[in-house]
Amino acid sequence: MERKRGYFITFEGADGCGKTTQAELLEKWLSKKGYKTLMTLEPGATDLGKNLRQILLHYEKPVSDEAEMFMYLADRAQHTQMVIKPALEDNKIVLCDRYTDSTVAYQGYGRGTDIEQINTLNEIATKGLKSDLTLLFDVESEVAQSRLGKTKDRLESQGMEFHKKVREGYIDIARKNPSRVKIVNANATIEEVFSNVKEIVGELLNI
Ligand code: TYD
Repeated sequence: MERKRGYFITFEGADGCGKTTQAELLEKWLSKKGYKTLMTLEPGATDLGKNLRQILLHYEKPVSDEAEMFMYLADRAQHTQMVIKPALEDNKIVLCDRYTDSTVAYQGYGRGTDIEQINTLNEIATKGLKSDLTLLFDVESEVAQSRLGKTKDRLESQGMEFHKKVREGYIDIARKNPSRVKIVNANATIEEVFSNVKEIVGELLNI
């Protein structure tokens, strides 16, 4: 029986974990196999989102934790309704670089906002759209940080303690959602990581 909608795969992990490279490799691999794909990201995939991204990553004055959270959620609401849902309805495999788990990990575990409240707000922002599969690229915070360039954005320049909390948060999310979230060891070569990715995605798609 043919599925009525495509697949929704999200890529999560710390800044510098290598998920964007893996998403690009996966897109090429899937396209070669004849799948219709859409690569997208948060924050900043829509026109509205690009404006929010500029503030989120580069605004220089203080930003309250709640204002930051709502901007990520506003970006997600626009992105889900305008881009992700239509692509899934068009039977595409949507590969999304960050989604709801980023808000739980960064604003929840990182900044300390209540996780249950974030879950509720994520539900509202996405109208309940969840990923079919989330790949969590896990690597020690020191390694991830050392992969980043010298010019860091607003989030990347938070201290090591923040990044460690984010990493722990992601691992907790994976523990709580074992069927949706798969941990990929990102402390390996690009090829090794990608072979793990292909295995997990192959299982989802039955290929
Ligand atoms: P980006 O340059 O896209 O980073 P990356 O390539 O690592 O994804 O910047 C996105 C930043 O925003 C990143 O530091 C994580 C952060 N973020 C949140 O804090 N909450 C969120 O809900 C999302 C989507 C991202």
